[in-house]
Amino acid sequence: MKICIIGTGYVGLVSGTCFAELGNNVICTDVNKKKINDLNEAKIPIYEPGIEELIKRNTHQKRLKFTSDIASSIKKSDIIFICVGTPTNKKNNKANLKYVFDVAHSIKDNLNKYKVIVTKSTVPVTTGDRIEKILNIKKNKNKFDVISNPEFLREGEAIRDFLYPDRVVIGTNANKPNKIMKNLYLPIIKKKNRYFHTSRRASELIKYASNAFLATKITYINEISNLCEKANIDVKDISIGMGLDERIGDRFLRPGPSYGGSCFPKDTRALLTTAKKFRTNLSIVKSVIKSNEYRNNLLLSRIYQIMSKNIKNKKITFLGVTFKAGTDDMRESSSLKIIPSLINKGANVFYYDPSGPKKDFKNNKIKYCSNIKDACINTDLLIIHTEWNEFKQLNFKSLVKNKKFKIFDMRNLYSPVKMKKNNIRYFGVGR
Ligand code: NAD
Ligand code: UDX
Repeated sequence: MKICIIGTGYVGLVSGTCFAELGNNVICTDVNKKKINDLNEAKIPIYEPGIEELIKRNTHQKRLKFTSDIASSIKKSDIIFICVGTPTNKKNNKANLKYVFDVAHSIKDNLNKYKVIVTKSTVPVTTGDRIEKILNIKKNKNKFDVISNPEFLREGEAIRDFLYPDRVVIGTNANKPNKIMKNLYLPIIKKKNRYFHTSRRASELIKYASNAFLATKITYINEISNLCEKANIDVKDISIGMGLDERIGDRFLRPGPSYGGSCFPKDTRALLTTAKKFRTNLSIVKSVIKSNEYRNNLLLSRIYQIMSKNIKNKKITFLGVTFKAGTDDMRESSSLKIIPSLINKGANVFYYDPSGPKKDFKNNKIKYCSNIKDACINTDLLIIHTEWNEFKQLNFKSLVKNKKFKIFDMRNLYSPVKMKKNNIRYFGVGR
């Protein structure tokens, strides 16, 4: 099939590459010319395990192309995937649909034959209806169908999530685009019978309801971990004990810093504004957002407590600053809240991140180290902020060389018992 991807970010690049890997002809487009030029020189703009090899193979086979000529790419294609960002509009917390509607206008101007127009971007309920209006359904009847196909991939696991999804959700009330989409996804869905066809609005809501539910699960275990700390219980046992109940399941029950990333924070906020529009009260989602925001303050207090309120001129080292391991994405990472507060209180903050240095810290007092050794040497407090594999078996004493150092393991990667045996002052979350 001839596919055009509009918006070659995390979702567009992964989706386009995987569709090409399945044998389709894919053109990935973007308004960001530098990104397209880089991709044409085999420079990959995101950190995503496995993507580079797939891109190389599929560009070599001429199934995958990158261009900023969006108009001609639309004309050449049968299926158009809208994969642009839908960030929070800071004024009203709604999803900012400007990029989606810009794309809709580009499609309208280049509608030369029948096309399936797919929103893969996460978009609020009724966005499909609004795109249909822009495309002028009355004038262009039978020339297109607008359908919803939300994406559920996780950064760091994106290729596997895309090629082996738990489910493929297709939202449309029409038969023709449903048949086309089923055919497109056939190589993926024949492994498992996980193709779910529903209405367009339901499909749009499934995405938000899923993300808000997962955010709720994490926030729930984070709050339970606060209780565990007070009651001298290891939260790991609670996660295991709860997770053994198949109705609950053991995934997304790991406590840690506030959840972040490009999806959970913005999607929970956008869901609340949708509820408001339909005059419904989503009180659970509301309190999840509040609890998650408050978690940064709680962890900061914990750091002061661990350091006996004495952090001025102390060296504090962060291992990992992205919102989770396996990505270079800094969007809504808790480190962006915690680190500036520590610097304001006079701490000297250093960090190492396997995905490289970050431009997101406005304060130039925070220093990047290109290896773990330089970051850890003589530190007073080592904060394990993300769960990269390379942080899981460190010899802290030989790395730090400062007798009095402490560790705050925000991801519970290490055993408190072993740490105690080694005379290391170690603190975890919910234990
Ligand atoms: P991103 O910011 O990484 O990429 C978006 C791309 O769209 C950018 O490269 C930008 O230049 C481009 N763009 C903007 N306007 C354009 C236009 N008019 N024409 C062509 N290109 C344009 O975003 P992302 O993380 O890939 O997210 C995209 C969507 O997918 C969002 O709605 C997001 O919620 C959803 N989503 C993201 C993830 C994820 O893990 N990142 C997972 C599932 C769903
Ligand atoms: C999420 C959804 O999982 C995915 O389905 C959707 O398509 C995009 O949003 P992603 O943002 O890549 O994916 O990361 P995810 O692995 O879900 O983690 C999100 C946040 O939750 C991170 O900050 C992570 O550290 C945190 N988390 C996750 C926990 O704190 N504990 C857990 O048990 C799981």
